[in-house]
Amino acid sequence: MPGFETIDKQELKHLKKIFQNGGGVLFRHGFEKIRGRSFQVEEFEKKFAKRFKSKYALAVSSGTAALRVALASLGIGKNDEVITQSFTFVATVEAIVESGAKPVCTEIDDTLNMCPNDLLKKISKKTKAIILVHMLGSPGNISEVKKICKRKNIYLIEDTAWGIGGMYKKKFLGTIGDIGTFSFDFAKTITTGEGGMLLFKKKQHFLKAKAWHDHGHENNPKVPRWEDTRQSSGFNYRMTELQGAVGISQLKKFNNIFNKHKKNKNIILKKIKKFKEIRIRDLPNNSIDAAEALIFSLKNQNLARRFRKIFFDKGYSTKILPEALDWHFAGKWTHIKELNLKKSNSYKKSLKKINKYVSLQIFYKMKDDYPKKIESTLRQIL
Ligand SMILES: Cc1ncc(COP(=O)(O)O)c(C=O)c1O
Repeated sequence: MPGFETIDKQELKHLKKIFQNGGGVLFRHGFEKIRGRSFQVEEFEKKFAKRFKSKYALAVSSGTAALRVALASLGIGKNDEVITQSFTFVATVEAIVESGAKPVCTEIDDTLNMCPNDLLKKISKKTKAIILVHMLGSPGNISEVKKICKRKNIYLIEDTAWGIGGMYKKKFLGTIGDIGTFSFDFAKTITTGEGGMLLFKKKQHFLKAKAWHDHGHENNPKVPRWEDTRQSSGFNYRMTELQGAVGISQLKKFNNIFNKHKKNKNIILKKIKKFKEIRIRDLPNNSIDAAEALIFSLKNQNLARRFRKIFFDKGYSTKILPEALDWHFAGKWTHIKELNLKKSNSYKKSLKKINKYVSLQIFYKMKDDYPKKIESTLRQIL
């Protein structure tokens, strides 16, 4: 699971720099006379872009904000449609609604991400962008979805909230489409408490996003900020220096976290592969997942629920599936009127599929008995 398991004195050391060298300036812009050369958010952006091999990075206040800023930078709004997948966190759809566009969701395939066949059926003349989610850290079918986007001239955003470090054909998730968005909330691989990042292919989208997330400020070096130039309105989704400092420290730990996730996931995989009744979530060819979770299906929904109950009684919870579907499945969101759901439990095909799955958390500091408890629970129910 997450960066929060790794928060320690290192983050404190980085935070102290703001006060010792940076005069206590917590705002990412200006105040040069007080802050000297302490620009934590800017440094975090540069290091993040370098680590994930992208030219342009913009830090923002959350992963939800990153999605909203991405849509704004592509000029998406009223009268447009944006397609995402039915299995995602509610934030993906909320960001589309906030942009003024109409959200449309697809069914999922055995990757548990966007089904490219259903995507083709849902594209209309109004479709301006597709948000492919690498849900719970496992890549979606990006080669197919990208081909469709290219053919139909539609933007591709990758919601990489969970997928940091994952890859497709040696490219990092979040750098394959036009824009990739990331989350650093407290449950994610690296965390700044709340926070997010965008990676861009094109400079023009980066510049639009940079201004839009900062009330339209162009940060024109020729004028002071209070006389700054602007071309359009925007909003405030800025990251603070406190988050930036923590982000730099967390990024230093990323390799270690990622490798540990992989190692711990493999230990569990070895145990559960003994059970023939289990089917592991599909991983597209040439992909590497972020090992955020281990997701497998059982024969039916009852078994998945029984696993959850017995595992819970042993002192562990599962991650999202089957326990928190209400917040992670569009078929349940009758409260979002823009989705036009006729009744709860829509996207029946996806629901039938997802109901059988169990999602296990992968911990950085995995307790010795965790894999054994998983194995014994499976033995009990099967
Ligand atoms: C798929 C997905 N997208 C976006 C977000 C939003 O991220 P944040 O919590 O940083 O706003 C989340 C959060 O869990 C998520 O799971």
